[in-house]
Amino acid sequence: MRKRRPVKAIARAAVGAAVGAAVLLVGTPAHAATGCTVDYQVNDWGGGFTAGITITNNDAALSGWELSFGFPGDQRVTNGWSADWNQQGDRVTAGDLGYNGSLGTGQSTTIGFNGTYSGTNDPPTDFTLNGVTCNDSGGGNLPPTVSLTQPSNGANFAAGQPIALAADASDPDGSVTSVDFYAGDTLLGSDTTSPYSLQWAAPGDGGHRLTAVAHDDSGDTTTSTPVSVTVGDGGGDPPGDRVDNPYVGADVYVNPDWSAKAAAEPGGDAIADQPTAVWMDRIAAIEGTSTARGLAAHLDTAVAQAAGGELVFQVVIYNLPGRDCAALASNGELEPHEIDRYKHEYIDPIADILSDPAYADLRIVTVIEIDSLPNLITNVTPRPTATPECDVMKANGNYVEGVGYALAQLGAVPNVYNYIDAGHHGWIGWDDNFGPSADLFHQAATSAGSTVDDVHGFIANTANYGALKEDHFAIGDTVNGTTVRQSDWIDWNRYVDELSFAQAFRLEAVSAGFNPDVGMLIDTSRNGWGGDARPTGPGPMTDVNAYVDGGRYDQRIHLGNWCNQSGAGLGERPQTAPEPGIDAYIWAKPPGESDGSSEEIPNPDGKGFDRMCDPTYPGNARNGFNMSGALPDAPLSGDWFPAQFAELLANAYPPL
Ligand code: BGC
Repeated sequence: MRKRRPVKAIARAAVGAAVGAAVLLVGTPAHAATGCTVDYQVNDWGGGFTAGITITNNDAALSGWELSFGFPGDQRVTNGWSADWNQQGDRVTAGDLGYNGSLGTGQSTTIGFNGTYSGTNDPPTDFTLNGVTCNDSGGGNLPPTVSLTQPSNGANFAAGQPIALAADASDPDGSVTSVDFYAGDTLLGSDTTSPYSLQWAAPGDGGHRLTAVAHDDSGDTTTSTPVSVTVGDGGGDPPGDRVDNPYVGADVYVNPDWSAKAAAEPGGDAIADQPTAVWMDRIAAIEGTSTARGLAAHLDTAVAQAAGGELVFQVVIYNLPGRDCAALASNGELEPHEIDRYKHEYIDPIADILSDPAYADLRIVTVIEIDSLPNLITNVTPRPTATPECDVMKANGNYVEGVGYALAQLGAVPNVYNYIDAGHHGWIGWDDNFGPSADLFHQAATSAGSTVDDVHGFIANTANYGALKEDHFAIGDTVNGTTVRQSDWIDWNRYVDELSFAQAFRLEAVSAGFNPDVGMLIDTSRNGWGGDARPTGPGPMTDVNAYVDGGRYDQRIHLGNWCNQSGAGLGERPQTAPEPGIDAYIWAKPPGESDGSSEEIPNPDGKGFDRMCDPTYPGNARNGFNMSGALPDAPLSGDWFPAQFAELLANAYPPL
């Protein structure tokens, strides 16, 4: 919705209306030398008003920006200028228009809008620019800071032992009056003098999430980042001692909700008992909705499926602020600056549920934030594929911060195995993208409290269509002295398929600083490319394009196509340790769930309409301006798409 821009950006001169009307200067002092200063001036004639907003960047130069604020009353933007205006409820965003996107240190730009209201027209006070709070030292009380210094995140304690807790807290404009210590929602006790500490006498067995809450002399409070600890051996694998490959010796959870949909389709019984991942694609998915069970209900079902044996539960963590910045089909509910909501309304509740001792015997595999970090490599300025949204997410750092936080909080649960999304060969396989991706993943994995020990591995091809193994040509082949790398299809990529890419990426990640025992997953749910079009031998040696195109299994029009691909089939059935370095082939994207709608469909979840899902679309820079190859009549991303399911069955490889 955010990118649908219902409020037209109208280019016009600042409004000259109502000469003589009172010009109220309602803003904010311009003294602050914080990240940004916003001056908001209103010309109000009762029921209607014009706002002029001057944004000053006090920080490092920006190549793109998005201003965000909330109206305190029922104000509505009716039309605006010099920015892309959008309003959702009381939240307003204004994005640059390209020509005014660069804002050097100390530079200002002015934008404006006309609005209506009833009641009062108080000015907004919570301006952020690319997620950074503006007008910071505006005079109000500053909240205290607090961090839990002891115990350390992920620590294990023997059953029956007390645990010592300690916190650092201070207040920039006053004093700290007390620090409370909590385990989950239970208050363990308080300390009013520094050093703040508490002895927790009788922690129960299992996982606990500890926080410290500091209070200052103005009554403001701040909660620390949580620390997860385990008491006793929670059963199953010894705590803190994850197995090398969680899939070995274990069954994998079959999602009964997906299974029922698959079984209801013609021929669907053949695969309805396959394991697929559960997607936490919005905050509401944690609790569950009328049509999908929530996380705890899935985990309860998983415990029953395990029946005392080892069971892997696969969950996709997918709700970053400004999600899917280079595409519209899976735009999410959180605005680019809403990193705190991501942490405390999304990741914390998930970590709370996963650390419940009732689930300590499961091996919980998380797929962390698909497409996010790869977008920061390939779809940012100065690449021709850049989008303003990805520039914003790179500048505000919230993908990196969010992934780091997710890894730290989920990785502190001893039976969680985190796998970071690593795109796929047709994205990250080029030299310019390969090493930089591994380095960026390392940066994220050492941010926001995470360490490389919170990362168990990486996943390739999530929800994509890249062939697993191209048998009829290899990257080193040449035709008449021309290498396969020079073919139009490969286009200088270093890899021809997902398996060779995934194995090489594992080594690259290790050389970037990840642990030597990291493993790879590959999503093989829809990369089978069987059926009549599947070549049975190499293409002719007449020229390199004939050779590659005649031999390739992947029948896409272009490697950059990603939405509901026509001709695709189910890939390898999920299996454990199929190849060196590969922990498992899994079905992360549940077959039959759409990648995005082929036309605009209004919805409350932030899902946009991306023309890459429209079969009549002639493409963009990210697919070399080729046709999208998408199936027609597709529903919203995540919604059930029977026609695609039928095609995936028909074109399955290996065949069903
Ligand atoms: C959608 C999610 C959905 C997932 C699995 C994504 O493209 O945005 O809402 O849960 O696919 O189908």
